[in-house]
Amino acid sequence: MSGHKKVAILISGGGSNMMTLVNSMTGDHPARPCLVLSNNADAGGLKKAAEAGVATAVVDHRPFKGDRQAFEAELVKPILDSGADIVCLAGFMRVLTSGFVSRFQGQMLNIHPSLLPKYTGLHTHARALEAGDAEHGCSVHEVTAVLDDGPLLGQARLPVLTGDTPDTLAARVLEQEHILYPAVLHRYAADDRTPVLLG
Ligand code: GRF
Repeated sequence: MSGHKKVAILISGGGSNMMTLVNSMTGDHPARPCLVLSNNADAGGLKKAAEAGVATAVVDHRPFKGDRQAFEAELVKPILDSGADIVCLAGFMRVLTSGFVSRFQGQMLNIHPSLLPKYTGLHTHARALEAGDAEHGCSVHEVTAVLDDGPLLGQARLPVLTGDTPDTLAARVLEQEHILYPAVLHRYAADDRTPVLLG
């Protein structure tokens, strides 16, 4: 494994983005997955990661009852133990405090289902439709203390079609997420910060 960057991936759900990242890190890719970590023991992605031979861990946020700092004090442990050089958020549905984020500044990426800076936060597909946007898509960015902010590392654009619903749009955006995130991670792990622009 010498020479490979180590990547920890944080998930909350099905982990389809996580699996595209895991599957991309083979051959001459400069990185390898070292950990898949979830705040939710029921996240379907945990089983998929384990089947792919990746170490998994769970830190449930619920016992911390909204104390984000106490939750993060536990969340950070398996990440540090894994020796991760890069942390990828992939459908990780907890807001992280500036203290946690600053610890991984310049090492942490997130994928968000909108053309940032448009539509930070939730319900991005419905909001794009309500606004009558002709175009929608997804973004990968470095994580900073501001939610869904930080330097853009890539975007994939797609046309909004007549008759699109939030679900049809989400499905097409997710297909693009699965192309964009591995492409960005590959460059990032090779210390190339040139944005990946698709579509
Ligand atoms: C994706 O739609 C992503 O944009 C959003 O959460 C979803 C994660 O899906 N933030 P998956 O867990 O990667 O399948």
